[in-house]
Amino acid sequence: MIESDFWRDPYPFYDQMRSVHPLYKGTLFKHPGWYVTGYEEAAAILKDARFQSRIPLPETSRKYEQLKHVQHDMLLFKNREDHRRLRSLVGKEFTPKMAESFRPFIKDAAEELLDQLESRQTADIVSEFAFPLASLIIANILGVPKEERHQFREWTASLIKTIDFTRSRQALAKGNAAVIKLTAYFKDLIQKRKTDPREDLISRFASLEQLTEEEFLAACILLVIAGHETTVNLISNGLFCLMNHPAQLAVLKDNPPLIESAVEECLRYESPTQLTARMASEDCEINGNMIKKGEQVYILLGAANRDPNIFPHPHILDIKRNPNPHLAFGSGSHFCLGSSLARLEAQIAIPVLLERAPKLRLASSDIQYRKLIGFRSLAELPVVLN
Ligand code: HEM
Repeated sequence: MIESDFWRDPYPFYDQMRSVHPLYKGTLFKHPGWYVTGYEEAAAILKDARFQSRIPLPETSRKYEQLKHVQHDMLLFKNREDHRRLRSLVGKEFTPKMAESFRPFIKDAAEELLDQLESRQTADIVSEFAFPLASLIIANILGVPKEERHQFREWTASLIKTIDFTRSRQALAKGNAAVIKLTAYFKDLIQKRKTDPREDLISRFASLEQLTEEEFLAACILLVIAGHETTVNLISNGLFCLMNHPAQLAVLKDNPPLIESAVEECLRYESPTQLTARMASEDCEINGNMIKKGEQVYILLGAANRDPNIFPHPHILDIKRNPNPHLAFGSGSHFCLGSSLARLEAQIAIPVLLERAPKLRLASSDIQYRKLIGFRSLAELPVVLN
């Protein structure tokens, strides 16, 4: 049973676990394994190829076949040679230069969304700004027509629940149904782009012979989930942090170039991805502890990013923090491919909103997080704009 305070503020629980041991072995959230809350241990395991990524569902389960098949072909859950091959193909599309080329598009999209809120006194930042912005951008990159992207919201929200510790049978059944719909949608779009190529990622992927059809579909679905379920949290959490720390917000307003370091601090302080998992492929010694072959390892990125051995005063938001070697985008071979894009979206969206709504403030003191253990995700962020 998870205490209700955990959803609001999981950090005291992480601190308590780290104080017992930064590599804690036990059964938490119904999952037995090693829980990593120490920064050094988390970074070492993420960089160690003996710890392999694996699909979240048990291999033996016969249920949720379509969901399992798609996850099997996702870059995120591949290892070694297969991972290197797929990563080099998909990685070519996600360079810092590519992200930079979207700068004008991101700025215009953010301004347009705020134009629509111009006459409004209040708004929900999550559903009316951060989510549509992230959605427009990933749809544009992939080549999903603007008017067709609305159905993705429900599908990606169902899929994120299938990879979270909180997953229930009902969530898995819904996720499986969403995968069936997403697969049908992308099969159709891929076919269209094969006969009529455009300037988009799906058209470029369609010409790659090294990608199997299943890998192609899984890449589209992974990018849609990543594009819809993570950056929205960085933008919303970032704005929430700044509104909760008015002195830091004032420092940023006085010195706009600090936005880059402010975004890094928001990534550390409220890491959008809080947890990632690995399995030991052989017996491995980490920091004097023997992790046995086949054991599960849960890396709590949000806890590692608040480790006082690395970050002085870790529970203080300091937008000038330097150095800030956070692990919000992971580390090692699976380091986030969308990091440049996500950073840029936040570096543009946050200042545009602060400029257009200089009196921006919270409209409620009762702000709820979605009940997900692996993701720090606000259910909504009601604000007063004027
Ligand atoms: C603030 C936003 C984001 C955060 C915090 C984030 C976080 C992460 C993390 C922690 C991982 C590593 C997972 C692991 O090691 O198991 C990862 C991997 C990945 N991310 Fe992101 N991500 C974000 C945005 C994006 C975006 C916008 C995209 C693409 C449009 C993206 C695409 C990917 C992909 C494809 C991988 C898998 C890489 C691999 O397995 O080689 N991410 N992300």
